[in-house]
Amino acid sequence: MRTVAWDEEKQALRLIDQRLLPAEFKFAYCYTYQETADAIRKMVVRGAPAIGAAAAFGLALAGFQSKANTLPDLLRDLREAADVLAKARPTAVNLTWALQRMLRLAEGYVGTPDKLRHLLLAEAQRIADEDVAINKRMAEHGATLIHDGDTVIHHCNTGALATVDWGTALGVIRMAHEQGKRVHVLVDETRPRLQGARLTAWELEQYGIPYDIITDNAAGYFLRSGEVQAVFVGADRVAANGDVANKIGTYMLALAANDNGVPFYPVVPTSTVDLSLRHGAQIPIEERDPSEVLDIQLHGRPVTPKGASARNPAFDVTPARLVTAIVTENGLVYPPFDLNLPAVVLGADGKETTDSAD
Ligand code: MRU
Repeated sequence: MRTVAWDEEKQALRLIDQRLLPAEFKFAYCYTYQETADAIRKMVVRGAPAIGAAAAFGLALAGFQSKANTLPDLLRDLREAADVLAKARPTAVNLTWALQRMLRLAEGYVGTPDKLRHLLLAEAQRIADEDVAINKRMAEHGATLIHDGDTVIHHCNTGALATVDWGTALGVIRMAHEQGKRVHVLVDETRPRLQGARLTAWELEQYGIPYDIITDNAAGYFLRSGEVQAVFVGADRVAANGDVANKIGTYMLALAANDNGVPFYPVVPTSTVDLSLRHGAQIPIEERDPSEVLDIQLHGRPVTPKGASARNPAFDVTPARLVTAIVTENGLVYPPFDLNLPAVVLGADGKETTDSAD
């Protein structure tokens, strides 16, 4: 079942409402680009590749919403909508990557506005289909890093729910499991929104992969114990030098892995690599509402005192020196990343290679 899909009958974007899982499995529908931007902002849909695909469908919806009769007018409306969608969440570059790809198509198009509207929907569909194919290729490459009997740590949710289907880091673990390797997953619960405890654990239940949820604070303990053979995470944006922005807590995990000689692998489609940024300090980090930290309850009672304040950065940056290798759909990338990463993203012809995925 796809996390992000077009509903032909409703002429709407269909999402799985991830705020309700695992208690309730329910679809949410977006009929306009404004509703799509809202769903991304509120994390009805989340995960870098998933919000990229959702934004692409959002722009297709903007095309159908527009009353424009000429191409320049339609283009103006599309640019306005792309601006709103791009602002929904700032860190994951897949959002702007997908919107730019959609706008490039519109800008180069010659023909009727109506035909363009349908071409935009077809392009969004292509982005979604490619995402699944790319994830499976990454999974094949990444699974070579997992051996029979391994225990791995996984952070946040990077599975089918965070992508269109299959997943990035969790997709690697799923592939190893499907290849018959016995793999045990230690699932970081991932405060404050608990994507690990809620979503990754829910997915692992569906796949029949054995796991234990651990508190984020326990990761260092397990890494030091010698029980863990590798750490797999996703990414929201990777700079040209290999610095990796991912869910808050990833940096501490990478430090503890490094200190204990445990390999640390981000699993990253090339659409998540932002070659326009030289290093990770240039990556915009989303700071979300403090209520996500403060509203936690224990036994039905608030945990924090009334009037307490909080800070809530949603992502952090792991420096490239802590990264063992980056798994992409075009293969494993090892240091020096400033040399090897651009080569993998741009390919031999100097063009971005993601678009041509099978
Ligand atoms: O805030 P979220 O839940 O959208 O953050 C998601 C992550 O950080 C994932 O690890 C990342 O997007 C990689 S997912 C395939």
